[in-house]
Amino acid sequence: MSRLSLNAVLVSTVGLAAMLPAEAGELPNPLEDEDYLHDGAPDPKLIELGRMLFFDPILSGNRNISCGTCHDPSRGTGDDLALSIGEGGEGFGADRHSGRSGVTGRVPRNAQPLYNIGARSYRAFFHDGRLEPDAAGVFKSGFWSPAREHLPEGLDSLLAAQAMFPVLSPVEMAGQKGENPVATAVAEDRPADAWDLLAKRLSGIGVYREMFREAFGSSKVSFVQAANALAAFQAVAFRSNGSPFEQTLRDGEFARLSDDVWAGIDLFYGRAGCDSCHSGPLMTDHGFHAIAMPQTGPGKGHGSDTSYWHASGFMDRLEDEGRFRVTFEKEDLFSFRTPSLLNVALTGPWGHSGAYDTLEGIVRHHLAPQASLEAYQGTELPVLDAVIEQTGKGSKLIFRPVNPARRNAFDRRDTWVQTNVRLTNRIAEANDLEPIELSDREVGQLVAFLESLTDPAMRDRQDLIPERVPSGLPLQPPPQSSR
Ligand code: HEC
Ligand code: HEC
Repeated sequence: MSRLSLNAVLVSTVGLAAMLPAEAGELPNPLEDEDYLHDGAPDPKLIELGRMLFFDPILSGNRNISCGTCHDPSRGTGDDLALSIGEGGEGFGADRHSGRSGVTGRVPRNAQPLYNIGARSYRAFFHDGRLEPDAAGVFKSGFWSPAREHLPEGLDSLLAAQAMFPVLSPVEMAGQKGENPVATAVAEDRPADAWDLLAKRLSGIGVYREMFREAFGSSKVSFVQAANALAAFQAVAFRSNGSPFEQTLRDGEFARLSDDVWAGIDLFYGRAGCDSCHSGPLMTDHGFHAIAMPQTGPGKGHGSDTSYWHASGFMDRLEDEGRFRVTFEKEDLFSFRTPSLLNVALTGPWGHSGAYDTLEGIVRHHLAPQASLEAYQGTELPVLDAVIEQTGKGSKLIFRPVNPARRNAFDRRDTWVQTNVRLTNRIAEANDLEPIELSDREVGQLVAFLESLTDPAMRDRQDLIPERVPSGLPLQPPPQSSR
């Protein structure tokens, strides 16, 4: 038995925090009902409506992808990919690829896990926190967001506001201009029309009309209501506070955790200083930090670098400058939100662009961020078998397969930032995580601790996926019975 757990057994009436060595920080209190939206208990009618909407491709412009495709409850609420393949893709998880009709490219960031996403403590969503409460009271919606003044009133939480956005992303759910009216509204910066078109689709389906009426007491369907229902569902479905670590914080059954886990806790909350960012019950400070994380894939098109554009002929810029693009503060360059670590063992690949496919890899990155960035060898991205690009303008606008002669030039975007010394130097220079030295054994102990953050009840939540959805469209992802 380790020193810590032995100690703990001897003084089990004292709080667990008191058991830790003096230099360790404070251990968190696990989350309780009141820490979640609706005090953890939204109206069941709202939850069920949200569940249907979450898995129904009806919310995508071309009716071919649902929230659940990228946030699959049997895949750690992700898609097992470093970078998602959105609308136009086919298949699920690691088998997903660009479908026959082709895709315009990859989703530029890793699909974020949704565990405990209904915790009230969240104060910014997305890797760069571009959706936040509007403390200054500028927008009637109550939120700062990429939709600015277009975001309507009536969204009952930050999480509900988030649900307004995936449907507006051409590469995620909306599709491309000209393919469907939702995508065209998006492309013409008419988000309110896009939301209305989707609400109209829903109200054209009898089962949905009835479900909305039961949940909201009125037969008028709006996308704001859909977003409120999606939030209620996510808050309940992905609530997870039953990991061995949290159980132990609650009941003081110290022997539940192995010696290695205790040694990992000791490091995490002590010498390794992980809790200076991964703090509190969700193991995040909700803040933004630059930790020299490598960029994989095409990025968000931030930055002013035009080297790819000049070299390839594709009019694209490729960097992902993270939080900087929201605040335009220099110290936010290449900063990303500290992720929650609850269930982290289920949520790989890790990092905002899925740069690491092992927990050990991402932990080691933290020990020597700049050296790790320099030595980074890249990660496997699924092959895009068919890619399309926009040609022409206005009424002549169409999407065509990328000319095979230009395909190599297109594909170079996947590793452009990684292999460009000037661009990786910018990421390295922005780093604000101090290197530390840990032995291989200690790295193993940290990984053992991270693995003790997995809630057994979350290993596979296929049961959340309905057998069918009200639109009658093929389910995304497929239901349990057909796997
Ligand atoms: C094509 C894949 C894809 C689809 C479809 C998709 N998402 Fe996501 N989701 C992502 C990615 C990628 C991010 C991170 C985006 C970023 O930071 O720019 C994300 C972020 C989120 C977040 C923010 C989490 C956080 O910690 O900040 C929530 C919540 C979410 N998605 C819910 C949804 C809902 C609800 C839907 C359906 C309406 C949906 N997603 C559809 C890929 C997807
Ligand atoms: C300076 C703040 C900071 C410190 C200290 C820190 N982290 Fe992180 N950590 C982050 C940020 C920010 C990210 C996400 C970076 C990104 O995606 O670009 C992250 C990502 C991670 C991830 C990947 C999670 C995911 O969902 O992708 C793990 C695992 C992790 N950290 C573990 C640790 C461990 C273990 C330590 C201590 C050795 C530690 N962190 C110390 C800020 C920090």
